Amino acid sequence: MHRYRSVGDSPTSINHQAGPPSLHYIANTLELLILSCELLCRSVGIGMNNSMTKDWNAAYEADDTPWDKGVAAPPLRAFLETHPIRGRVLVPGCGLGHDVRLLAQQGASVVGLDIVPKAVRKAQAVAAVGDERFEVADFLNLAEHYHGQFDTLVEHTCLCALDPAQRVAYVRAVLQALKPGGHYLAVFFREVKDYRKGGPPHPITADQIEALFGNDFDTLESSVPQQSYPCRPLGSEEVRWMRKRDSAAG
Ligand SMILES: C[S@@+](CC[C@H](N)C(=O)[O-])C[C@H]1O[C@@H](n2cnc3c(N)ncnc32)[C@H](O)[C@@H]1O
Repeated sequence: MHRYRSVGDSPTSINHQAGPPSLHYIANTLELLILSCELLCRSVGIGMNNSMTKDWNAAYEADDTPWDKGVAAPPLRAFLETHPIRGRVLVPGCGLGHDVRLLAQQGASVVGLDIVPKAVRKAQAVAAVGDERFEVADFLNLAEHYHGQFDTLVEHTCLCALDPAQRVAYVRAVLQALKPGGHYLAVFFREVKDYRKGGPPHPITADQIEALFGNDFDTLESSVPQQSYPCRPLGSEEVRWMRKRDSAAG
């Protein structure tokens, strides 16, 4: 898509006495409209391609799972060194379960949920390291038996994998899953290289985090992790440790 080179290229330069608008003017006007819509959508966290949810089943069936690095997330590992997490923990979109096993190894009682049966079967096939279990479930339509059950919910690469239009449903599920005063630990993708080519992963801005979580959570700590997978540029992630307010619904 080309950009205007000078004010004279812009639609505002039309001479209304010169007859009907030219094709060039119409094309420029359309480009301006598309750009405005894109900016508006981004400002409220909705992608232009918001009807394009990824086919996760197909990805696992084709063994096309580039997000799976074979080990737990380094920012999570680093956080746990100074903030041990115990009690009942939920990991939505757990994939093959590396983060779940890390948490279980450290003494938490962990449930990993994923919408894809093949991912859950592969996670279940790994020998247990502690008190962990894996279940097939749609986190965005969280079954009632999970409601109010968890002391902590650990987010890593589930939220960024969802279409931005699904974020409100995601936060509703987080609130449903947590006990009053429960904790939410997130590794957020604040920046995604070449995002203009489209997600997932979809990045999230500080303002979007505030808009989604600000009403119901207090942020206890926030940091930029110094350790990550080699493919993730340092500085592109944020670790947030939040607490669900006692007054929050769900
Ligand atoms: C980018 S992958 C990350 C997997 C894992 N957290 C990891 O880092 O390896 C996103 C995962 O979320 C799962 N997922 C997508 N939508 C979901 C939903 N509505 N409920 C539960 N899991 C979902 C996908 O099947 C996929 O395993």
